[in-house]
Amino acid sequence: QPVQLWGGRFASGPAEAMAALSLSTHFDWVLAPYDIAGSRAHARVLRSAGLLTDDELDAMLAALDQLDDDVASGAFTPVPADEDVHTALERGLIERAGAELGGKLRAGRSRNDQVATLFRMWLRDAARRVGNGVLAVIDALIAQAKQHPNAAMPGRTHLQHAQPVLLAHHLLAHVQSLLRDVDRLRDWDDRTAVSPYGSGALAGSSLGLDPAAIASELGFDAPVENSIDGTASRDFAAEIAFVLAMLGVNLSRIAEEVILWTTAEFGYATLDDAWATGSSIMPQKKNPDVAELTRGKSGRLIGNLTGLLATLKAQPLAYNRDLQEDKEPVFDSVAQLELLLPAIAGMVGTLTFHTDRMAELAPAGFTLATDIAEWLVRQGVPFRSAHEAAGACVRAAEARGVGLDELTDDELAAIDPHLTPQVREVLTVAGSLASRDAYGGTAPVRVAEQLDRAVATADEY
Ligand code: ARG
Repeated sequence: QPVQLWGGRFASGPAEAMAALSLSTHFDWVLAPYDIAGSRAHARVLRSAGLLTDDELDAMLAALDQLDDDVASGAFTPVPADEDVHTALERGLIERAGAELGGKLRAGRSRNDQVATLFRMWLRDAARRVGNGVLAVIDALIAQAKQHPNAAMPGRTHLQHAQPVLLAHHLLAHVQSLLRDVDRLRDWDDRTAVSPYGSGALAGSSLGLDPAAIASELGFDAPVENSIDGTASRDFAAEIAFVLAMLGVNLSRIAEEVILWTTAEFGYATLDDAWATGSSIMPQKKNPDVAELTRGKSGRLIGNLTGLLATLKAQPLAYNRDLQEDKEPVFDSVAQLELLLPAIAGMVGTLTFHTDRMAELAPAGFTLATDIAEWLVRQGVPFRSAHEAAGACVRAAEARGVGLDELTDDELAAIDPHLTPQVREVLTVAGSLASRDAYGGTAPVRVAEQLDRAVATADEY
């Protein structure tokens, strides 16, 4: 027996194509437990306002509990005639509480304030799950950094060899961006923890219902200030779509490096068998699919954000049915990240780093040239001339096919009289790393401190 929420003024039911277009239960059914929680809270304020008796409230809550169990067990599901999750659940309530009592619950509320509230509730829970998934990736990066406190690698700019850095320093750079992603999720939650319930269709309720009571029962900090804003605004959805897209972009940068690092040319790392895939034709292949799917899905997350913003643009206040298009993109971003995050944590945590190979390449490409220039500055040479002299050292070494540390005393002196043999003290990777000991630098002592602080920050979340 289908229940329609708005049949009264219509002589006919909706056309088939109209009904098909309108249907949203295939994606909004995930809101069902939140809708029932909202109904419990709403029933209580109806009681407080004198619109339900104590007995009616008890019977209503019992029917809602039964409905909740039946939704959880799959005994109650939407039928094609149910326009959306709210319609389906009203049918379920009426089946359990009877038409007389079940028909009383909708007083003073609208699907507009309901859906705005339930969507926030669903997203707040999802944000917590995603945040935990990010923390697992952070833990994996930190574990690798701890395991390799002294491993050096060529730091790059423009993907070219730049200056030696610690592998741990590099991994902790990714940790910093992921910690900010977790912070953004928490910060977003502060703004999202307000409840539109009680806003009605747009103008608020005339029945003496207390929005603050519902807000607190549903775990919100407060009700919304403005019922029009409460039902019509979706910047909370766009904002988390951005936070999730940014997270995807940050993850894609890790992914891209894993893809490069596991090539024969780099040879920095090997993927664990459990986190790689093979080829159906080439028996030797071991492919970095986790990293590639991360890179690929980051584009999808960006698409979800831009699509949602386009949906919201220029919508007049208050509610418009366009807003029903708000849920799928954000649900999708969450679902993709819930697939990705455990896989990325597994892939990163089980990577084997080839630290000998990385150490061998750390000074390659004259990455210590800056150290010569800075050594000269410490001898009182202006940086401009020091940079010239260090550049000349690179040219001389390159011409002779040797490293900077292999230039002879005479060659050095001929380039610049300040270049005494003592300059060789800084021409080692270890010396270069240790010298970059300002706060945030790659010196092992600084990186160890940085690691401790990252652990402490991650523990706080
Ligand atoms: N399913 C709609 C949504 O997700 C809520 C229903 C509002 N419908 C309406 N006719 N006001 O936005």
